[in-house]
Amino acid sequence: MKKIKVGIIGCGTIGAEIARACQGRLKKSVELAAICDADENKAAQLFKILNKKARVLKLNELIKKCDFVVEAASAKISADILKKCIKSNKRCLVMSVGGLLGNEKLLESARSKGVKVYIPSGAICGIDGLKSASIGKVESVTITTRKPPRGLAGAPYLVEKDIDVAGLKEETVIFEGTAADAVKGFPQNINVSAVLSIAGIGSGHTRVRIVASPDCSSNIHEIEIVGEFGKITMRAENVPSKTNPKTSALAIFSAIATLEGALSSVRVGT
Ligand SMILES: NC(=O)c1ccc[n+]([C@@H]2O[C@H](COP(=O)([O-])OP(=O)(O)OC[C@H]3O[C@@H](n4cnc5c(N)ncnc54)[C@H](O)[C@@H]3O)[C@@H](O)[C@H]2O)c1
Repeated sequence: MKKIKVGIIGCGTIGAEIARACQGRLKKSVELAAICDADENKAAQLFKILNKKARVLKLNELIKKCDFVVEAASAKISADILKKCIKSNKRCLVMSVGGLLGNEKLLESARSKGVKVYIPSGAICGIDGLKSASIGKVESVTITTRKPPRGLAGAPYLVEKDIDVAGLKEETVIFEGTAADAVKGFPQNINVSAVLSIAGIGSGHTRVRIVASPDCSSNIHEIEIVGEFGKITMRAENVPSKTNPKTSALAIFSAIATLEGALSSVRVGT
C-alpha cells in the first residue's frame, strides 16, 4: 500500500508528538514528508530527532509536497492553511480550531469540493453525543473550563482587562460569554469551545465559562448539552502536557487518534 505523505505545520508540543507518531505507531501507513515552523529553531530541533526522510520546508512548499497536512501552529494562520489545502485538494487536520470561527464558510467550501477536513475532539469527550443530538433539536451547549493560572497566563483577554491570574488566592470566574468571544480572548486555551460550536449550535450560541483555579493541577472541562434527546453531562480532568501547560495530553492523543482514524478503514463511534 502506498504511504500517505504527511506534512506538519507547527513543531511545538502537538506537532512534535504527531511527528513521533508518524515515525512510530503510524509508520506502516504514513511517511512524514515535511515539517515547517515560523521559528526556524523549533523546526531544526524537531528535525534533529526525526529520521531523515522528512524535510524542513516553507509552508506553501509543504502543502504542495504532501497529501495530508496537519496544522498545529496558531489560530492566526489555521484558516489560511485550510484555505490553501482546499484550493490544492489536500486533506487537512486542524488543531487551532478557534481560527475557524468566523470562517465557517471554508468548511462549506471543503464539503462542496469534496476535500476532507479533520477536527479532533481535543481534550474533551462528548462530540459524538453532540453530533447525534444535533440530528434533533439542541437547546443549549455549555462548557465550563477550569485551569491552573499558568494554563491561562498571557491570554489577550486577561492582558486587555489587566487581570493578574498568577496572584489569585481562590477559584475565580474570569470569563463568561459566547464561544465566539472566548476564542478571541483566549485563542490558545479554549479551542475545545470552537470544536463544540462547529459540532453543535454555532459559536454565537455555545456558552463558555472560564475559571482560574489556583488549587487545580489539571485542565478540567465540564460540558452540558440539553436537547430533544435529553441531557448529557461530561467531565474530563486532563493532565497538562509537559512542554505546554495550555495544551492537555488528551488533545495530543486526540490529534494522533484522528490521524490514525483518517487512515483506517474501520471507524468506531459516531
Ligand atoms: N483543538 C484542541 O483541542 C487544541 C488543544 C491544544 C492546543 N491546540 C492548538 O493547537 C496549536 C498547537 O498547540 P501546541 O501546544 O503544539 O503549541 P506550541 O506553542 O507548543 O507550538 C506551536 C508551534 O507553532 C509555531 N507557529 C506559530 N505560528 C506559526 C505560523 N504562522 N507558521 C508556522 N508555525 C507557527 C510556533 O513557533 C510553535 O513552534 C495551538 O494553536 C493551540 O492553541 C488545540
